[in-house]
Amino acid sequence: MYQTVLFAGFVALAAASPAAQGIDFASINAAPSPSMTGPPVSANSESFNYDTASANAAGSAAVTGIASASASGSQAVNSKRNLSPSTTTQKVSTGTSTTSSSTACATVPEAGTSCGFINPEDPCAVQPDGYGPHVTPDTVAAFTAYAEFHTQAQAARAPAGYTQTFADLDGSVNGNTYLGLSTLQSYDVPLCGQHCDSTALCTGFNIYVERDPSLNPSPNCTLPSSITNYKCTLWGSSVDASLATNDGQNRGLFQVVIAGSDGFTKTNTTTPAPCPGWQHPQDCGGRAHNHPSTCIGTSFFPGPYDPLLCASYAQAQNALNAKPSSWKQWTRSYNPLQCNFFNAFMLKKNGKPLGTYCGLYAQTYGAGDATYSPGWQGSDYWGIESSWGFSIN
Ligand SMILES: *[C@@H]1O[C@H](CO)[C@@H](O)[C@H](O)[C@H]1NC(C)=O
Ligand SMILES: *[C@@H]1O[C@H](CO)[C@@H](O)[C@H](O)[C@H]1NC(C)=O
Repeated sequence: MYQTVLFAGFVALAAASPAAQGIDFASINAAPSPSMTGPPVSANSESFNYDTASANAAGSAAVTGIASASASGSQAVNSKRNLSPSTTTQKVSTGTSTTSSSTACATVPEAGTSCGFINPEDPCAVQPDGYGPHVTPDTVAAFTAYAEFHTQAQAARAPAGYTQTFADLDGSVNGNTYLGLSTLQSYDVPLCGQHCDSTALCTGFNIYVERDPSLNPSPNCTLPSSITNYKCTLWGSSVDASLATNDGQNRGLFQVVIAGSDGFTKTNTTTPAPCPGWQHPQDCGGRAHNHPSTCIGTSFFPGPYDPLLCASYAQAQNALNAKPSSWKQWTRSYNPLQCNFFNAFMLKKNGKPLGTYCGLYAQTYGAGDATYSPGWQGSDYWGIESSWGFSIN
């Protein structure tokens, strides 16, 4: 079934304490996950409409007041002075997605159908697709052991630009950066890659074989025979084995299981889409900028990696900061109230991508000035990917 998910209604959640080490891990830990972290159990197709306006609105909503850098002049990189981030603010925003599965019917639908077609969510309705082989005997054990699924998964090659990150696992990917699902007619890695290439923000995909029920399990058909689906899910981040945690579920008495799960990612070879008003995207090579004295603010957006959130946040912060006349006393090259540069990166916890982290700076930096790597904090390992810097001119 088709669903449309919009990025909409991001809401600023909490203004937390200043970021002592560049990132306030406690507030990130407290941030809720996006409403969708993988395909719904009975879905066979789902696409997201990327909406620039909602990304702009979400970024702007992260601004809660005038904010300035603590340093009153530009700073040498790695300066030991002015390390107090006392006027920086850190916010966590949360995305709420609206889901709509109702498209207008052209004619009055028959009772019990959707637009005159069989509604796969009806009790005992025939389930769509099922292009894979019928496994006999029709058991979970036979499906899990079916040799073809494993040889295909192990033989798969990464499409151009992608790197394979895992092969032939028995779990599918779940996580914060879900961007959609399609069901394929074969274990078609290039086609899944093409779906990712044509989807805004997509930089990773997961292809797998799923044992699904042939009928929607209901009291009158508690244990239908199985069908085999090739599924392709898209992600706004890298995908790695630590995300391949969905090893199936029960639908009534029917047991859904997964085999031959492969992951591919192109985060290291993807330049983000341009952010209007911002120039010279620079690849910070897996490290973040962390310059507390020139930092105007930071914000975190759970969900797919999208620098436009940071650009919108920076733009809205500058618009608000420019209102007081104090703005005018500063030179064009350094103004503690003006964000001239932002860093946008995907923050990962124990290998799992969580969302876009933004740092706003009064001064412009080079890619080589990005030296921060959070690493171990207590028992959690925090990592960074897709770290990019953007300048205002
Ligand atoms: C189950 O089958 C019975 C007998 O055929 C029928 O009366 C009943 O409506 C069915 N229940 C559902 C949920 O379809
Ligand atoms: C991407 O680059 C980082 C280093 O910047 C490296 O650690 C990581 O393994 C790379 N990822 C892939 C999938 O190649």
